[in-house]
Amino acid sequence: MKNKISNIIKSKNKKKLICLTAYSKNFAEEVDRYADITLVGDSLGSVLYNFKSTREVTIENMIQHSKSVKLGIKKSLMVVDMPYLTYKNKKEALKNAKKIFKQTKCDAIKVEGASNISSIIKHLIKNKIPVMGHLGLLPQTVKGKFRYQGKNIHERKKLIKEAILLDKLGVFSIVLECIETQTAKKITKIVKIPTIGIGSSKYCDGQVLVTDDLLGINKTKIRFVKEFINLRRYIKKGIKKFKYDVKTKKYPSKKHSY
Ligand code: KIV
Repeated sequence: MKNKISNIIKSKNKKKLICLTAYSKNFAEEVDRYADITLVGDSLGSVLYNFKSTREVTIENMIQHSKSVKLGIKKSLMVVDMPYLTYKNKKEALKNAKKIFKQTKCDAIKVEGASNISSIIKHLIKNKIPVMGHLGLLPQTVKGKFRYQGKNIHERKKLIKEAILLDKLGVFSIVLECIETQTAKKITKIVKIPTIGIGSSKYCDGQVLVTDDLLGINKTKIRFVKEFINLRRYIKKGIKKFKYDVKTKKYPSKKHSY
């Protein structure tokens, strides 16, 4: 695991990092072929359960899905999101991180924030829990509408300061979500660890997307999402064909019977 993390850090300025979400074994198997990092994101709350926000996701939800994801992983670094309120103080954070590690056999956890949780991140790292940071739009604590971060000079300076802090605290990479292009570029240049962008321009060291979004399974209107294939079309085709064959008694044929 240590090796996997140092390889991620070493890849800065050498290769673009690929990070994708997975919530179950079959998806993880395919993601793992191409991704450096497989993220069990708490986005599963909205993608799978129609939760209004990631705040509804529980540690049990995360552990259950992560156990399944682990079965599909051979080589990528497996990162699990710590859900909302599971890292509200040092003691709780360490207890919950250890629980996630023990039950899911993941390689690292991700938490949202920087200066507001700096003592917690420090405590986790001191206790040998590898931490991935997350800056910019923070779905667990966002108030009001989701909007891009770094609209004015005050916000830009704060984001840069926060990224430097995360780097100093010892996180091994930072997800930059919905950050204005020049700010994401500057952060990526300044910090020693890789930045993984989502809606934060091409200047990040790597990119992450929700796999269900890029495959067109989860319908979303978010500006930064590109649908790389419309998998729903193929799923529909397969299911329709099954229905037709059953109705017309083509299936099951002799070949599929005992
Ligand atoms: O929950 C998630 O899937 C995430 C990524 C979108 C970065 O945090």
